[in-house]
Amino acid sequence: MTDRTNPELVIVLDFGAQYAQLIARKVRQCNVYCELLPHDTPLDELAKRQPWGVILSGGPDSVYAPGAPVPPRELFELGIPILGICYGMQLMCHLLGGSVTRGIKREYGKADLEVLSDADLFRGLPQTMTCWMSHGDSVATLPDGFHALGKTANTAHAAVADTDRRFYGVQFHPEVTHTPRGLEVLRNFLYGACECSGSWTVASIVDSAVAAIRQQVGESRVLCGLSGGVDSAATAALVHRAVGEQLVCLFVDHGFLREGEPEEVQRTFAAHFGVNLVTIDASERFLARLVGITDPEQKRLRIGEEFIRVFEEEAGRLGDFPFLAQGTLYSDVVESGPHNAAQIKRHHNVGGLPERMNFSLVEPLRGLFKDEARAVAGELGIPDEITWRHPFPGPGLAVRVIGEVTREKLDILRQADTIMLEEIKRAGLYREIFQALTVLPDVRSVGVMGDERTYGYPIVVRCVTSEDVMTADWARLPHDLLECLSTRIVNEVPAVNRVLYDLTSKPPGTIEWE
Ligand code: XMP
Repeated sequence: MTDRTNPELVIVLDFGAQYAQLIARKVRQCNVYCELLPHDTPLDELAKRQPWGVILSGGPDSVYAPGAPVPPRELFELGIPILGICYGMQLMCHLLGGSVTRGIKREYGKADLEVLSDADLFRGLPQTMTCWMSHGDSVATLPDGFHALGKTANTAHAAVADTDRRFYGVQFHPEVTHTPRGLEVLRNFLYGACECSGSWTVASIVDSAVAAIRQQVGESRVLCGLSGGVDSAATAALVHRAVGEQLVCLFVDHGFLREGEPEEVQRTFAAHFGVNLVTIDASERFLARLVGITDPEQKRLRIGEEFIRVFEEEAGRLGDFPFLAQGTLYSDVVESGPHNAAQIKRHHNVGGLPERMNFSLVEPLRGLFKDEARAVAGELGIPDEITWRHPFPGPGLAVRVIGEVTREKLDILRQADTIMLEEIKRAGLYREIFQALTVLPDVRSVGVMGDERTYGYPIVVRCVTSEDVMTADWARLPHDLLECLSTRIVNEVPAVNRVLYDLTSKPPGTIEWE
């Protein structure tokens, strides 16, 4: 039984669902803190965290398949409310004595759910509602104590409950937008069965992060690497709020930043936080490491190594720092888990600092998704230019200049990039677009300007939309905006005589070119 003096927490057990992360995000949207854990998390570890409720996710398996994932059986004896979704519901019914039939009536896509009981999960919801189904197996007979809460034309047990034990199951997916009232179903589970009050708000996240940092750090000094992006900025602001002068921020300018970026980062931090900021202009030494290097992975490797070297040198010079603060997000934690996809590129950021540097890590955003980190940044008064800045790779423009990186090419790319961003912002599309970038390929082509032959570089404009970074689509920009980009870049950047727009989604492309 959960001790309800502990903060509200709901655990999603992941059975391999495509939508497991989405469930966690939706629970958090209901202002209830939620964590995703593997399905085989040991019972004592689950119990120790004192969850107010547990959600069993869907998954690709059939409950009768050999090796099908199961939760610890005693989970059902802890007295904690449980919601099973799709496979999670089938599993719960199967483990508690019901039966599941295999793929007789498959159901994929939208279905009309007839609500049989307007209490519990469906409190305040209509008698019939659209829901999204994606299953081959179905629950045939219910375990003792269960009854149906809803059905569809093909599924007699589309929603079920044992209200005494506070066990619920839905065959449909309440977490997807194709179930328009799905969030309310989840909210009914969280606020009704689990008795949560929705106390997890941005203000409460900031308060508890600040308290946790104070407790972790005590009187010691903390070093924080700033990149100019929202995650490291919010991290620094939290640490600063917690321990003030004990924080020193280190901003390494590797020379591959966009126009005006180093100045902007320094200005923002001086103006808004009054933090101790040390800026290192290391552009010469980074550029020197890339002479003659054309292979993308070599570039990344060398920049990563040089970054560590500069960081180590400066940390040594600045004195004793037992703690290193960094802006690791929950998605980084989940993605670097055991089911992580094949490594496509060697990503470089401050998180790549080696363990032998002997820092203890302070990672106040480790439990947050990007949108939540942005909300924290807003709460902390970080200006919109940083909060809503598009993601920017650690190696910066060096992976957007294809082939050897030279000062001349960086300058060309910077000018084109500035124009592109100006026009995207002017068109009011900056927030809609996940990432907008320009690339300078290592080719030249012939053109004609003012009756004269030109032999110049093309600039590739790449704008993508994305929810999760893992997949992305090219943004459908208005033709007049494309025209304006092309005209301005060719007219204003002397070495450029062509502009291309990248029409590749991810996959098969990646967002960056290298
Ligand atoms: P790709 O190109 O793999 O990029 O589709 C996915 C996202 O990651 C960013 N990116 C990086 N971020 N260090 C980072 O911190 C890196 O080395 C790095 N490389 C790519 C990229 O801009 C996109 O948002």
